[in-house]
Amino acid sequence: MELAELLNKKHDEARQGEAFKASVAPIQDGKKFYIESYGCAMNFSDSEVVASILQENEFSATPDFETADLILINTCSIREKAELTIRKRLTEFRKIKRTRPGMLIGVLGCMAERLKAQLLEQEKLVDLVIGPDAYRSLPTLIKEASGGQKGVNVLLSRDETYGDIAPVRLNSNGITAFVSITRGCNNMCSFCVVPFTRGRERSRSANSIIEEIKLLVNQGYKEITLLGQNVDSYHWVNETGNETVTFANLLEQAALVSPDLRVRFSTSHPKDITDVVLYTMAKYENICKCIHLPVQSGNTRVLQLMNRTYSREWYLAKVDRIREILPNCGLTSDMIAGFCTETEEEHQDTLTLMDYCSFDMSYMYFYSERPGTLAARRFKDDISLEDKKRRLQEIVDKQGELSTRSNLNDIGKTFKILIETRSKRDANDWTGRTSQNKITVFPKSNENQQPGDYVWVKIHDCTRATLLGTIVDHP
Ligand code: SAM
Ligand code: SF4
Ligand code: F3S
Repeated sequence: MELAELLNKKHDEARQGEAFKASVAPIQDGKKFYIESYGCAMNFSDSEVVASILQENEFSATPDFETADLILINTCSIREKAELTIRKRLTEFRKIKRTRPGMLIGVLGCMAERLKAQLLEQEKLVDLVIGPDAYRSLPTLIKEASGGQKGVNVLLSRDETYGDIAPVRLNSNGITAFVSITRGCNNMCSFCVVPFTRGRERSRSANSIIEEIKLLVNQGYKEITLLGQNVDSYHWVNETGNETVTFANLLEQAALVSPDLRVRFSTSHPKDITDVVLYTMAKYENICKCIHLPVQSGNTRVLQLMNRTYSREWYLAKVDRIREILPNCGLTSDMIAGFCTETEEEHQDTLTLMDYCSFDMSYMYFYSERPGTLAARRFKDDISLEDKKRRLQEIVDKQGELSTRSNLNDIGKTFKILIETRSKRDANDWTGRTSQNKITVFPKSNENQQPGDYVWVKIHDCTRATLLGTIVDHP
């Protein structure tokens, strides 16, 4: 397997296919559901809303799909490969259904929205198909499907935010949690299926977001990530119209909930992140100094075709501004190799932009045409798979160099780390992250330490993906 494929596979494995390990004991004699999530953090966060809706309706979670009454798969359509992985999984679930006929299989999320009735009728793979804005109808549709009908609801909404639903935390370490702040996307990047699967952008009420954060703090959580496809365009006006909350306001309110709570956010669109947001980050120690700022391409003509609405120069100026206001800020990105008509020179522009920006980490993909998107309708997908893969490999190699350099730069420095879990490799080591979001591994220094504690760690070594250090006294 090529390195690019291997790295993306590792990344996919890390992000996708995590089955819910139930922390709640199944209710005796009640129905049990099993949920598996794929795709972005928004999808994982949605699965927690779905779990909450089901628990309210006397379903309990199980980590074992073989004994579940209801198997749900929360799906992603972002690239063709993501959909193929899910189809394979559905076929496995169908085999189990043959031995347990009363069991129901449901498809949730972006693939449900994109393929709609096709999954039910032509392919007969599932009993339920429910789009991202229709989860409240799950209990009714389950009843219908149990009675032999097919349950389908893929209506997109202009105002659904699930703001009143307290998510049931799945696979939780009890320390870090996602909090959704917007749904949908208005941007229409030409390669992207999200505006079609998730609908128009809407912002959740600031009050419900802050209430959810306070609840998490009371439960002992120490870090939250505010989630949206484009968090910087968060904009909420209260019922009486006399209060407007921008993303910078919301960030400040979240930071003020507790000085002991770390606040992160993702994703920022380069066109929308403002100086006010950057100054708010600088003002509060507990707002983590890391920005995920996907660039997609380093060439202005390609960016125009992608409908990203900024140029190479504009992006570089934004990075300069971040470095000026937040000198110690981590910076990460997304890149697409081999978009329609991209020349070798234009691909080189992506590599030189990466050098200039010194990204600490990136998610890297080759272009995958998605039916119905602007690019699929307007442009020819004319870069051969071989060239796409080679260009992606060059991007991955470049990022490898940059990540290694960035980590080597941290040797000798001391960082405040939030302890998250025991290291998988050695139970005597802790794993946590720096404010800049770098994973750090270090030995326990006393028996009283536990996940959720903050410690200071001096870095003495690194790999491409991890910092290695030792706990020291507060500098
Ligand atoms: N909203 C975020 C933004 O605009 O940066 C990210 C959205 S998307 C869920 C995550 C990443 O998937 C994108 O940043 C892009 O790099 C990649 N992506 C989206 N559509 C793609 C496609 N058709 N082919 C390859 N990669 C794609
Ligand atoms: Fe897709 Fe662009 Fe919206 Fe991100 S900003 S979700 S890439 S359309
Ligand atoms: Fe995938 Fe939908 Fe997220 S397409 S990346 S799960 S918004």
